[in-house]
Amino acid sequence: MKKMGNKVALLALVLVLCYGLAMAVSFVEDEDWRGESEGREDWRRERKGEVREDRRRERERKGREENRRREREGEGRKDWRREGEEEGEEDWRREREKREEWSTEARFLLKDSKRVVKTDAGEMEVVRSFVGKIVDRPLHIGFITMEPKTLFIPQYLDSSLVIFIRRGEAKIGLIYEDVLGERWLKTGDVYHIPAGSAFYLVNTAEGQKLHIICSIDPSEGLGVGTFQSFFIGGGTYPQSVLAGFEPETLSRAFNVSYAELRDLFRLKRGPIIYLNDSHSTSPWPKIMHMKEHARLQHLKKLMDSHEEPAQKEEQTWSWKKLLNSMLGMETETKKRDDRGTSDKGKGKTPDSYNLYDRHPDCSNDYGWSVALDKHDYSPLKHSGIGIYLVNLTAGAMMAPHVNPTATEYGIVLRGSGTIQIVFPNGTNAMSSEIAEGDVFFVPRYFPFCQIASRSGPLEFFGFTTSAHRNRPQFLAGSNSLIRAMMGPELAASFGITLERLQDIDKAQPFGVILPPDTKTKRREEPLPPDTKTKRREDEHAREPKVIKSFWE
Ligand SMILES: *[C@@H]1O[C@H](CO)[C@@H](O)[C@H](O)[C@H]1NC(C)=O
Ligand SMILES: *[C@@H]1O[C@H](CO)[C@@H](O)[C@H](O)[C@H]1NC(C)=O
Ligand SMILES: *[C@@H]1O[C@H](CO)[C@@H](O)[C@H](O)[C@H]1NC(C)=O
Ligand SMILES: *[C@@H]1O[C@H](CO)[C@@H](O)[C@H](O)[C@H]1NC(C)=O
Repeated sequence: MKKMGNKVALLALVLVLCYGLAMAVSFVEDEDWRGESEGREDWRRERKGEVREDRRRERERKGREENRRREREGEGRKDWRREGEEEGEEDWRREREKREEWSTEARFLLKDSKRVVKTDAGEMEVVRSFVGKIVDRPLHIGFITMEPKTLFIPQYLDSSLVIFIRRGEAKIGLIYEDVLGERWLKTGDVYHIPAGSAFYLVNTAEGQKLHIICSIDPSEGLGVGTFQSFFIGGGTYPQSVLAGFEPETLSRAFNVSYAELRDLFRLKRGPIIYLNDSHSTSPWPKIMHMKEHARLQHLKKLMDSHEEPAQKEEQTWSWKKLLNSMLGMETETKKRDDRGTSDKGKGKTPDSYNLYDRHPDCSNDYGWSVALDKHDYSPLKHSGIGIYLVNLTAGAMMAPHVNPTATEYGIVLRGSGTIQIVFPNGTNAMSSEIAEGDVFFVPRYFPFCQIASRSGPLEFFGFTTSAHRNRPQFLAGSNSLIRAMMGPELAASFGITLERLQDIDKAQPFGVILPPDTKTKRREEPLPPDTKTKRREDEHAREPKVIKSFWE
C-alpha cells in the first residue's frame, strides 16, 4: 500500500518537473525586446531629467531596430543567458567584436540591456559588457529592483557580484565558510558576493523599493551567456537545481517521502516573490520571513500535517538537515538577537562598507569623489574590483585623466552631463551626453573626462577592474602630470618656451575637479564645428597642470 502511494507521488513529481520545464521555456520566450524596453522605462520613471527622455527614446528605438535587424539576420538569441548552448561564446565574441568595435558613435555607452527577471515583486535588468580586445576585463552591470517585503530566492551564480545599495534597505543572507551570515544593508552600502556562494536578498523595508546596482564579473563563469543562476529554492519557476535529481535520489538524500519533496518544489511565481504573499503555494516566503528558531518550529508544523506523530522527532531532524544543507543554517547553536536588526556573531560573513559614510578622497567647492579599493575594504581583494563615486556640481568637470591600470565602468546615478573619451592617436573617440541610468565604460589607458551639465549636479558611480590602488593620471589641473613634468623638455615638446608653458600652467589653480567653464569668453570667435575637438585638445595642452594620485 505504501509502495503504491510512493508510485503515485513519484508520478506527480515527474509531472511537476515536466511542467517546470515547460514554464522555464515559456518564461524565456516571453522575454522579447519590447518587454525589455518597457522595463527600462519603469526603471527610469523614477528619475528626473525629462529633457533626456526624448534623446533616450530615440536611442532605444535605434537600439531596438538594431536588435531586430540582428534577429532578422537569424541570430535569434532570445535567451541570452543560455545562448552559449546554441552558439559558442567564442563565436558570439568574434561576431560582436566585428560588429561593434568602433562602429557606433556612442561606442563607449553600454546599451545591450536585457531584463532577466520580471515578476510582480521585482525585476533584474543586466547591461551587458562590451567584449573586445580593448577591454581588459568585461563586467556586466546589473540593476535589481525589489518591491517592499520581497525576497530574491536563494541561489548561487557562476559570477561574482559586487552589490551597491542605491536606495532602500536590504537583508542579505550569504553562506560564508559554511555558515549562514545575515547582514543588514542600507543605502550606500557595498557588499561582495563570491561566485558559487549561495545567497538570498530580502527587501526589509515596509514601504520602500529597493534599488541595487551590481557588477557581474564573468571571469569565473561557465561561459554560457552573461551569467548563470543556480536556484536553490524554487519549484516550477524558477526551477530549483535540486529538482534535477532523480526523485529517488532526493528522497534518499533528504530522507523524506516523495510527498514531502513535492511540497518543497512548489514555487511558481518567479525568482523574486512577496514575503507577505498568503496565497503563495510555496513554503519559502513564510519560512524565509521567520527568525531562525521560528523557521524550525514552522517546519516542524509543516511536518505534522504529513506525518504520524511518532515520527515527528526524526522528521524534525531530517528537515533540519534539509535546511542546513540548503541554506547552511545554524539552528540551535546560534540564537539570533530577536530585534532582528543586529548582525552580531553571525558567522564570519564580512561586513558591508558604506560609500556615503566615507570621507571624500578629494573634495572642493565643485564636487567630491571617493574611491574604494582592497586597502579600504578587504573583500574587494578577492573580487579584484574597485569602486568609485563622484559628485560634480552643476557645470563642474572631472579633469581629463587616464586610468593606467584599470578599465572603468560607470553608471550615472543622478543628473546629466557629457563624457569625452580620446583615442590613443589623439582623436576624439566619443563625446556623448550621459543621463541618469546610462552605463559607460572607459578602456584602460584611454584619456577621458566627465562634465556636469549646467542644469544640476552630476553623480556617477562605478567599478574599476582592479582592486589595487588606482592612480589616475591627470592631464590637466593643479595635480597634473603636465605640472609634474614641467621643465625644458616638456616645453620643447610643445614647441614653446618654458616661461610660456609655466604661465599657462599657472592659470588653473584647481585639480581633479575643476570649476564650471568661465573661459568661454576667451574664445573670441566661434569655432567651426570640424576644428572644435582639435581646438579643445589644444586648449588643454595649453593649460597644463596636474598630477599625483588624488586618491591618497
Ligand atoms: C530517516 O527517516 C526515518 C523516518 O522516516 C527515520 O526512521 C530514520 O531514522 C531517518 N534516518 C536518519 C539517518 O535520520
Ligand atoms: C504584499 O504587499 C505589497 C505591498 O505592501 C502589496 O502590493 C501586495 O499586493 C501584497 N501581496 C499580497 C499577496 O498581499
Ligand atoms: C551631490 O551634490 C549635490 C550638490 O551639488 C547635493 O545636493 C547632493 O546631495 C550630493 N549627492 C550626494 C550623494 O551627496
Ligand atoms: C585614430 O584611431 C581610431 C581607432 O583606432 C581610428 O578609428 C581613427 O581613424 C584614427 N584616426 C586617425 C586620424 O588616425
